[in-house]
Amino acid sequence: MANKQSTAQTNQAESNSSGLEISNLKIWFDTPSGPLRAVDNVSLSVNKGEIVALVGESGSGKSVTSLAALKLINTPPGRFVSGSITLNGQNILAMTEQELESVRGTSAAMLFQNPRGSLDPSFTIQEAFQETLSRHQPGLSPKECREYIETGLRQVGFNDWERVAASYPHQLSGGMCQRVALAITFACNPDLLIADEPTTALDVGIQAKVLFLLRKLNIEHDLPILLITHDFGVVRAIAHRVVVMYAGHIQEEGPVDAVLCNPQHPYTRSLIKSVPDDVGNDDVLYQIPGTPPDLVNPPAGCRFADRCELAVKRCREELPELRALAEDRTARCHLIDLSENKV
Ligand SMILES: Nc1ncnc2c1ncn2[C@@H]1O[C@H](COP(=O)(O)OP(=O)(O)OP(=O)(O)O)[C@@H](O)[C@H]1O
Ligand SMILES: [Mg+2]
Repeated sequence: MANKQSTAQTNQAESNSSGLEISNLKIWFDTPSGPLRAVDNVSLSVNKGEIVALVGESGSGKSVTSLAALKLINTPPGRFVSGSITLNGQNILAMTEQELESVRGTSAAMLFQNPRGSLDPSFTIQEAFQETLSRHQPGLSPKECREYIETGLRQVGFNDWERVAASYPHQLSGGMCQRVALAITFACNPDLLIADEPTTALDVGIQAKVLFLLRKLNIEHDLPILLITHDFGVVRAIAHRVVVMYAGHIQEEGPVDAVLCNPQHPYTRSLIKSVPDDVGNDDVLYQIPGTPPDLVNPPAGCRFADRCELAVKRCREELPELRALAEDRTARCHLIDLSENKV
């Protein structure tokens, strides 16, 4: 872990303007009962050479944040309310649809949460691969193209790559579609990878292969990766920093080791506590009590207050700021004692 972090720190020092920078982003969805504040004042960066994990319960705003990063939420009911997004110093929000088309898939590749949905059902895998290669590696001979497809599919664990290449997406399982989508994304050779739950549908053997590949790309090409996951094992294995999201807000952020070993926000602690014990000691699995708040009428105070066993009156009445703590960390909680960083 120390090596991972020092590599990322060196890379950051070399190229501060590279990578993804999201500042004060607000994305709302118009619903019959009013605007739903899915992403509310979110700021995060993914620097060159860095893998940043975005974690949080279902519905916390992870996918909306990542889609918005490439301006993919631009039609009703979703709307951009405020904020800024830059990729390698370029203002994403000021780009025309045509400019965005050239950024998506070239500078920035997105691996969607539903990989089957992102594969065109009318193309075989080979045709989909060829279409991507013709845009990103123009001039390849048919033989070279076939070699690329073989290498790409083998990399994600398909020894029977010819059968997979000849298949349509509906002839493959969900996990197989996920691996195909990964292989096609890797062939784009992007400057930024946004991967939304890339290992969720995979068995542990294939998951390890995919994580190894992501790490290899990150190290060899200084590839910045925004990795969305529910799995703290995945976070621990490959991420440098972790951003914890809840109900549209960032609640805590910091280096992976520091946050996982010494979480400061009660929500982060609850999330970590709810991971099943891998030595099988859990007679009763911990569940965070209650449910996330209604984002159409969010509470005035901390959005986690109703579920937090430490909450006091102030937590319910006043929204805490995201405050800087020691060790490159931030957290949004009134109860953290800044002198000791202890709740
Ligand atoms: N098209 C939409 N219309 C209305 N609300 C939406 C739409 N898309 C997302 N939302 C809302 O935005 C919020 C954030 O959703 P998002 O998909 O980002 O969650 P997530 O953190 O990715 O969850 P999961 O872990 O389940 O993938 C949720 O409350 C969701 O209901
Ligand atoms: Mg999601």
